[in-house]
Amino acid sequence: MGDGRGEDYLFKVVIIGDSAVGKSNLLARFARNEFNANSKATIGVEFQTQSLKIDGREVQAQLWDTAGQERFRAVTSAYYRGAVGALIVYDITRKLTFENVARWLDELRMHSETILVTMLVGNKCDLSDLREVPTDEGKTYAEAEGLMFLETSALDTTNVNAAFHSVVKEIY
Ligand code: GTP
Ligand code: MG
Repeated sequence: MGDGRGEDYLFKVVIIGDSAVGKSNLLARFARNEFNANSKATIGVEFQTQSLKIDGREVQAQLWDTAGQERFRAVTSAYYRGAVGALIVYDITRKLTFENVARWLDELRMHSETILVTMLVGNKCDLSDLREVPTDEGKTYAEAEGLMFLETSALDTTNVNAAFHSVVKEIY
């Protein structure tokens, strides 16, 4: 692959999960080192292309962010088309967002042509006092489903780079 600017690889990675789990802020933190405490719900689809260095080579990751809210979602099949990796995000302070991971995983598997490199991400780990999903529960579920797993915080930056890097590295 490549677009003539010397990049060797271009990988599409989708970010999915319930509304307000922090998908857009994870992407903003990773791509621009920004955080927005009052971010609005995403409408439709946005994407960012970010270059990463993996084993000394330049890799372009096209990171797709969509609305968690059903009524704001764009055409689902187009969103998943060509994806080779995925981050499924839940909010460690809202159990329901973790329970819904199974539905996101179903949708992902239904719409992807190949087996995607998938990372389960428990976001907002800075809010430990409000935690409703124990780390072990996330980890155990991920292992059972063959997913990678990390807890992150888009607010304090914990594991944000690691989450994106690990997925892209695994694809590569
Ligand atoms: P949709 O676009 O509706 O699907 O939501 P989203 O998953 O993109 O969530 P978004 O990134 O907009 O974040 C929702 C809210 O959670 C915002 O108020 C963010 O500031 C907050 N938030 C996101 N990540 C974190 C985090 O790691 N820690 C804390 N404390 N708050 C966060
Ligand atoms: Mg969003």
